[in-house]
Amino acid sequence: MVSTNRNIVLIGFMGVGKTTIGHELATLLQRPFIDLDQAIEKEFGKTILEIFSKDGEEAFRKKERKLFGHIMNKENYIVSLGGGAFLQKDIQRQSLEKGEVIFLDISFSAWVERLPLLKKDRPLLQNKSHQEIKELYHSRREVYTNAHHTIHTDRLGPLQIAKEIKKAIQ
Ligand code: S3P
Repeated sequence: MVSTNRNIVLIGFMGVGKTTIGHELATLLQRPFIDLDQAIEKEFGKTILEIFSKDGEEAFRKKERKLFGHIMNKENYIVSLGGGAFLQKDIQRQSLEKGEVIFLDISFSAWVERLPLLKKDRPLLQNKSHQEIKELYHSRREVYTNAHHTIHTDRLGPLQIAKEIKKAIQ
């Protein structure tokens, strides 16, 4: 139930639109919004690409766990996670126990249309073959289905998706 003030945690594959949809949902529900990747970039004073190349992925994952822990000590927030965050056991457990987890699903065929744009700033998409990216998509998707709710996003715009989320949690 949305009235319990549990944080709403948005998960899904890279570039599905978690940040944009998070903003829409925050406006719709009149709740504060935090994008975990943006919070991490602010902490490091660097972009995600720079963090991965200069500090390494493990430093990024450690910061994800730390900041997510802080956020989940608060209530009422809409939180969008980077695509790999929910793969971390601690983050998955905390979000399922304390939050309302929404998986924003997208078909691979719809997602692939966004790939050229995403390749510019997503470190995990650099130097990977199409087949490797497809495998990453499918293995991640299996984990995301542990969410409390799944919203299929292929044919919907951000506002419609936010409205679907509102319905799902009521
Ligand atoms: C990642 C997804 C990215 C960002 C980082 C790692 C991942 O966020 O956290 O590049 O492991 O899938 P988006 O899901 O917003 O692209």
